[in-house]
Amino acid sequence: MHTRLEVVEGDITKLAVGAIVNAANRSLLGGGGVDGAVHRAAGPELLAECRTLGGCDTGQAKITKGYDLPVEWVIHTVGPVWNGGSHGEDKLLAGCYRESLKLGEEHGVKSIAFPAISTGVYRFPLERATRIAVGETKRHVEGDTGIERIVFCCFGHDAYACYRPTLGRD
Ligand code: APR
Repeated sequence: MHTRLEVVEGDITKLAVGAIVNAANRSLLGGGGVDGAVHRAAGPELLAECRTLGGCDTGQAKITKGYDLPVEWVIHTVGPVWNGGSHGEDKLLAGCYRESLKLGEEHGVKSIAFPAISTGVYRFPLERATRIAVGETKRHVEGDTGIERIVFCCFGHDAYACYRPTLGRD
């Protein structure tokens, strides 16, 4: 299976894909940034379902329905808070992409969109996070996957300018 990887600039809550990934916190009970945008767009039923999930560990992912969003699924993943880089942040961030893709595959998702996980409130350096996001995703789709399209959705030009060349390399 040859999976198409794309980068777009815009609001992930507007993308009509099979699943969008939410950069959540360990409580899964909402927050600011993309988490806030996802909950606002999905409506209160999303939070109600999140309450039944019992939270999520950093580097892991859990799935809910999309409710009022134009997607079937929301995959909630918890990125690492940047703490200088020697506390396993890279591995945890890679896990967010790997676990989200695995969860999407288990639910038959054909197209999935990611925000730039951890690069906002959690202060993970953008370039380093982008290399991890693209590298881990490319590694994952070398294997057997049912996912046909992966979109990196950048909310600002900085992220887009970082993802574009990183995606283009090799
Ligand atoms: N669509 C796409 N990307 C978005 C959107 C949006 N609507 N809103 C924000 N972003 C981008 C930010 O610009 C940043 O590049 O998502 C990326 C991740 O930033 P945050 O949302 O701050 O997430 P993160 O850094 O992972 O921090 C997670 O923030 O909102 C709280 O509850 C959340 O505690 C958790 C923490």
